[in-house]
Amino acid sequence: MAKVKKIFACTSCGATSPKWMGKCAHCGEWNTYIEEIIAKETTQEAKHKSWKSETGKGGARPVALPDIQAGNTQRLAAPDEELNRVLGGGIVPGSLVLIGGQPGIGKSTLLLQLALHLPATILYVSGEESEEQIKMRSDRIGGNPERCYILAETNTNKILKHAQELMPALIIIDSIQTLSSPHIESMPGSVSQVRECAGELQRFAKESNIPVFLIGHITKDGSIAGPKLLEHIVDAVLQFEGDRNYTYRILRTIKNRFGSTDELGIYEMDGNGLREVANPSELLLSQKDEDLSGSAIAATIEGLRPMLIETQALVSTSVYSAPQRSATGFDLRRLSMLLAVLEKRNGLPYAMNDVFLNIAGGIRVDDPAIDLAIVSALISSLEDVAIPTNVCFAGEVGLSGEIRAVNRIEQRIQEANRLGFREIYISKYNTKGLDAERYDIKIRTVGKIQELYSALFE
Ligand code: TYD
Ligand code: MG
Repeated sequence: MAKVKKIFACTSCGATSPKWMGKCAHCGEWNTYIEEIIAKETTQEAKHKSWKSETGKGGARPVALPDIQAGNTQRLAAPDEELNRVLGGGIVPGSLVLIGGQPGIGKSTLLLQLALHLPATILYVSGEESEEQIKMRSDRIGGNPERCYILAETNTNKILKHAQELMPALIIIDSIQTLSSPHIESMPGSVSQVRECAGELQRFAKESNIPVFLIGHITKDGSIAGPKLLEHIVDAVLQFEGDRNYTYRILRTIKNRFGSTDELGIYEMDGNGLREVANPSELLLSQKDEDLSGSAIAATIEGLRPMLIETQALVSTSVYSAPQRSATGFDLRRLSMLLAVLEKRNGLPYAMNDVFLNIAGGIRVDDPAIDLAIVSALISSLEDVAIPTNVCFAGEVGLSGEIRAVNRIEQRIQEANRLGFREIYISKYNTKGLDAERYDIKIRTVGKIQELYSALFE
């Protein structure tokens, strides 16, 4: 029997310590240390051996770079264009991909759908749902279930043994937090267990050249549960996000060793699983006939795709001495900064008002070009003057109230034009090399918030 050893591990960064600490010395987080029991197993090698002995395969040898066959890295094309795009052009053999997301967002659905539509043998390992539950789900999704094998197992040794026998084209693990390695005694989902299981799967993936997808849970603050170390082990980290009250889901790349992290996949959840959305703008603009105050449309670029998104603001008199600020889909600190600029540079009285901000479709936007639309929505609600629905905005707002240039302005204008907008407000510093004649949309340039104010609200 192995000697039992206790350690304390930080659930945020994965650092370990022999004693409990209130504040993690590595990542600075408070109250993240939890006790874990780990068996002090002999050596790393012994761990490795236990399932390696079943495979009977030798270790790796150093190979000169020119001798490595590039053909080995032929990517496996997923029958899902959005996923291919996010992965940088298909699934790389032997890669370990982590998909994180809030519970109920659709991670299992996304990967089961992939398993059912990929014309190859797939091993779907589920530690969360029973075989019957997966069967029911697969009936809803449709596809070809013949070559999709379900394994309801959580022991990594057994999983890898079955994988070795089946030799599937892809392994899906739902989820990494339910797995447990027999080499470690701590609970499934604990820092050391997650790290160990991911390490074992990574070794298997690299040696067998079978790609492995891991589903990972997300903590309350939005990071992938378990140690940050998991993010270092895997080749790509994808985040599946969206608001559960809406049907749109975004698959974002956070890390990708084989492609760009700018790519983005958009899906819509319907009764039969997830549907790819090729033209997001058309869905993200809410349908309404009348002009209402507090709403402005931003011409944003998410990843590499132009997307027109509606922003909505509600400014109302505060009943408390400390007014409320709330933002859905937008950084609250950035909202505070924009309000401070409006207050200081334009003398607009936001300090006495509650401010609520909402990005339509429950989508989180990182593009700074959304600032101009947000500022317009904030002023529109404060003044109670509607902005015409065929006007959109693209510009970043600086601390002195200047409207700054943004990247890929032509792409934004083109998309707004395609969707039938009549006017687009952009920064006056963004006009270099811009051929306004090419578009059937009026391009208005502004240098300061004051100019925007005069053009729209006076
Ligand atoms: P699920 O994939 O179980 O989420 P996760 O694995 O991220 O926890 O998806 C759960 C939600 O998706 C569930 O609330 C029901 C919904 N759903 C649909 O709307 N349509 C479908 O076809 C399926 C399979 C699920
Ligand atoms: Mg699930």
